[in-house]
Amino acid sequence: MIERSKIIKLLNANNAKDSVLVKGWIRTQRESKDFSFIELNDGSCLANIQIIVDNDIDNYQEIVKLTTGAAITVSGELLESQGKGQKWEVHANSIEMLGIAPDDFPLQKKRHTDEYLRTIAHLRPRSNKYSAIFRIRSKLSFAIHKFFQERDFQWVHTPIITGSDCEGAGEMFSVTTLNMNDIPKKDGAVDYEKDFFGKEASLTVSGQLSVETFCLSLGDVYTFGPTFRSENSNTSRHMSEFWMIEPEMAFADLQDDMKLGQEFIQYLIKYTMEECAEDLKLFAKYVDKNLMSTLDNIVNNDFIRLPYTDAIKILEQSGKKFEFDVDWGKDLQSEHERFLAEEYFKQPVIVYDYPKDIKAFYMRLNDDEKTVAAMDILVPAIGEIIGGSQREERYDLLKKRINDMSFDEANYWWYLDTRKYGTVPHAGFGLGFERLLMLVSGISNIRDVIPFPRTPKNLEF
Ligand code: 4AD
Ligand code: MG
Repeated sequence: MIERSKIIKLLNANNAKDSVLVKGWIRTQRESKDFSFIELNDGSCLANIQIIVDNDIDNYQEIVKLTTGAAITVSGELLESQGKGQKWEVHANSIEMLGIAPDDFPLQKKRHTDEYLRTIAHLRPRSNKYSAIFRIRSKLSFAIHKFFQERDFQWVHTPIITGSDCEGAGEMFSVTTLNMNDIPKKDGAVDYEKDFFGKEASLTVSGQLSVETFCLSLGDVYTFGPTFRSENSNTSRHMSEFWMIEPEMAFADLQDDMKLGQEFIQYLIKYTMEECAEDLKLFAKYVDKNLMSTLDNIVNNDFIRLPYTDAIKILEQSGKKFEFDVDWGKDLQSEHERFLAEEYFKQPVIVYDYPKDIKAFYMRLNDDEKTVAAMDILVPAIGEIIGGSQREERYDLLKKRINDMSFDEANYWWYLDTRKYGTVPHAGFGLGFERLLMLVSGISNIRDVIPFPRTPKNLEF
């Protein structure tokens, strides 16, 4: 019995082969006089392999009836193709039917809208566009580890269930085994002592606080995993479940953080251009005609570095009518971020030194006592793709911030300990993996770069 070959291997073969075995799904079938042509795809690459089926094979009548979506096994010869458009094709000796796809198979040849394809998220990876983005997603996941491992960062698996709110934005999903129909109460409030963990538990919004403790022992570290936010915003850039990469560097300041952020984004884009060239071409052709020049521009230029205060001046003097007011002390909205990156600078911008009141408690207070050493990286078409900061490493100041924000200090005792014992300057950031995938593909809705999107009122698959 010969081993199955993946189509990507056969299409890149150096020579003809007497006997090959391929399996896959029929993309199209076209009958001519004495034989039939099948375009077969197995997901290993964007391209199909052409199968020539002579009408003298036993079950020819059965095979020619198979339509788009059906699954087959083909044994045959790999030969140089006489036709245009492909180097190799398979001449079938026998074909076995694995699974038919009746006429109602939704992915017939015609193009469907992204909205419709979202309603069949279990089938959309069988289309060219979605198989391409999910191959890129897989390749980039690998590249993320490659980038950090090459730089001696250690990968830390931070927990998903947590007892502390990293961002303090109150966007956490509860984790409980309490009976929702009979919630135990104590002094009028939920009695979490009766719950599974004996205290209130949630899904994490960020692995940062846990990874910081490892940063102050293993040095440079990163986490890469799913995070959850119950923010009720239905935008094309937010989801309730998304993947985040969070590096944390010991003995590092905000400048080191900005440098790492720029190098990381540039590395991942270059990697995609080199290792996913075929799949990327599809997006440059059908999704965003300017994609390659946008990516070239990001890879070949240093990112602009702009203090928040200067960003506010630029926005105020822009003469643009924004939906949300621009005012020192207010957070930048997506429209402001996009104006800076897309229209004003036309390249990625790192905005830094934000007012302390709009940023998280763990960010390091600057000497002006009004701003913190925070930085956001903004890119064209998306806005914020990275959010990071130098961390407050001074015990007293950190403790004060926790109390000023009315957090329960008891939940952060272990975090405070890291500042009590051998504290050092350190910095890190979070990159939203799906936003990165939007950037490299030109896809404009975040729901289309994750296998099964989770958004408010949407949990089908
Ligand atoms: O700016 P954020 O909230 O930063 C943090 O969570 C820090 N703890 C990171 C750190 O310093 N270690 O989120 C980081 C990034 C954002 O820039 C964005 O790309 C992405 O995560 N992000 C989301 N992506 C999809 N859906 C959402 N709801 C997102 N919220 C944030
Ligand atoms: Mg942010």
